[in-house]
This record gives sequence, structure tokens and C-alpha cells, in this order.
Amino acid sequence: MVVSSVLLVEQNLLIAFSITKTHKSNIRIGLGTGQRYCRQRAIVLMESIIKLEDVSTVYEGERRPAIRDINLTLERNELVYVVGPNAAGKTTLLETINGLLPLFRGKISVLGLDVQTQGRLVRCEIGYVPQDFMVEPGEPYTALDVVLMGRYGRIGTLNRPEEKDREKAVETVRLLGIEELADRPMGKLSGGQQQKVMLARAIAKNPKILLLDEPFSNLDPESKERIPSLITRLHEAHELTTIIVTHDIHNILKECRRAIVMVNGRILVDESPENVCAAVNKSATFSSEGIA
Ligand SMILES: Nc1ncnc2c1ncn2[C@@H]1O[C@H](COP(=O)(O)OP(=O)(O)OP(=O)(O)O)[C@@H](O)[C@H]1O
Ligand SMILES: [Mg+2]
Repeated sequence: MVVSSVLLVEQNLLIAFSITKTHKSNIRIGLGTGQRYCRQRAIVLMESIIKLEDVSTVYEGERRPAIRDINLTLERNELVYVVGPNAAGKTTLLETINGLLPLFRGKISVLGLDVQTQGRLVRCEIGYVPQDFMVEPGEPYTALDVVLMGRYGRIGTLNRPEEKDREKAVETVRLLGIEELADRPMGKLSGGQQQKVMLARAIAKNPKILLLDEPFSNLDPESKERIPSLITRLHEAHELTTIIVTHDIHNILKECRRAIVMVNGRILVDESPENVCAAVNKSATFSSEGIA
């Protein structure tokens, strides 16, 4: 009963939202006991999952914006690759979406929420693998502890993880094929091993959005084939909206997804999957000309 009514509502919403917001209110009123669930779903269906409007970000103490006039919309279940030369602003873009940097100008909404005022809520739904993560050699946490930390956004830092959280962490470790690392201290792992643990941590969170900043850069050739395919499968199975920053154009051509080229803090190319080759070629041109 409940499922079918939700489905019906979803169909209505899809039509209604393309018309006016008033329709959204009307539909909410009509939802009855399922109202709360449907309102959450409604946000997801109504809004683009990630929407940046004329966004510029300036680092503290700097005068020049690191990213400028960014307009970018990602719908649910889109996978986008971001490429571009060093210092193009790729990491800054991800950190801005993640609400880790204050905006200089513009507006960002993620899952229908204002990132500037509701950043913590937004980050609960984002699995983020940063480009640079410092792990001290004496770090006492095991790899499994680190994966389990991915669950803390959901359970709250003051609460203890439950059995289901541990199960999810163990399941994700298996998925990544890093069982033999589970009990080893994070600080004693190699760079590639740490990268796999950080990916597992992001996935164990059960996020709605994945933001991955050069997540495969330290992997060996076997893992460079296996893990990107795994991410694509997870993205498809769980309808994850995914942004992957990479310098590895091989993956982009293989996956044939939307590709964005950033240069000098701006998005210069935003190509559909059909034109992904064009994006890659333009990216290569920008890099060889040293435009950054
Ligand atoms: N913490 C910071 N403080 C000041 N400026 C910064 C900071 N981090 C990055 N920048 C500057 O912002 C610009 C964009 O940097 P960003 O790290 O986003 O580039 P990127 O495209 O991710 O490069 P790479 O491919 O090397 O990772 C660069 O000019 C960089 O010097
Ligand atoms: Mg970077």
C-alpha cells in the first residue's frame, strides 16, 4: 500500500515540479500519514542534487578566487568526471560543494539544502575522499576503525556504533577486497592501501553523493581497473550522484560519462557522454599549453 502510494506521488511530483512550487505544497497536503517520508523524497525529486549558481570561492588571506563564476547542475544518479591541469580549482570545487569553504559569491544547494547554512546535514549525505589525507605513521586506528568512522556522521560522534554499523564496515572492507588490512594500523599502510581504506570509509557511509578527489592516483594497475568499475557499479546500484576528479583520461574514455574541464578556476568545457572525447582532447590541449 505505502509503496504504491509513494510511487504514485513520485509520478505526480515529477510532473508537478516542472510546473510550479505551489503544486509541491498541494501534494504535500495530500500525502496524509506518509507526508514526512514523501517530503524528503520530494526534495530529492524536485531539486537538482547539486546546483551551483555563479559560485566563486576565495581562500582566507587570498585576493584572487580559486574558482570563479561556476554554474553547475548535477541531477540524481549522474556521474561526472572533472579534469584539468594542476591548480585548475578541481579540489576547491569539491570542497566548496562539501561546504568546507565559505562562498565569496553565488549560491549552492545540495539535496535541496543550502550548503552554507546546513553544511553539517549536507555532509551527512556525502561520501568524500579527499586528495590529500595525512595519516601519521604512529596512527593507532586500524583500517577497520577508519572505515567505521564513515558511519559517525549518521550515528553522531557521541554515540557508539551499533552492530549494524560494524557489519556495514566489514561488508565494505570485503567489497573493496581489503580484508587483510582490516586489523592493521592505518599509519603503517602504504599510500595505495590507505587510499582503498578511504574509499571504503566513504562507501560505508551509505551516502547519496560521492565526491572523489583523485581517488585512484596511488593504486596499482590491477586496482586501477577493478576499483573504478566497482565505484561505477555502486553508483548505478544506489543511484549515487558522483563527481570524480582525475588526471586519468583512460577511465573517462572507458566509462564515457559527462566530463568537465576546469582551467584557471573556471569550467571551460562541460561535455555530455556523447562528446566525452572532445572534452578529453580539449583537456589535453589546455594541459600541454600549461594554461592554469
Ligand atoms: N589552502 C589554500 N590557501 C590558498 N590558496 C589555495 C589553497 N588551496 C589551494 N589554493 C589555490 O587554489 C587554486 C586551486 O587549487 P586546487 O587545489 O583546487 O587545484 P587542483 O585543480 O585541485 O590542482 P591539482 O591537480 O594539483 O590537485 C590554486 O591556485 C591553489 O594555489
Ligand atoms: Mg586537487
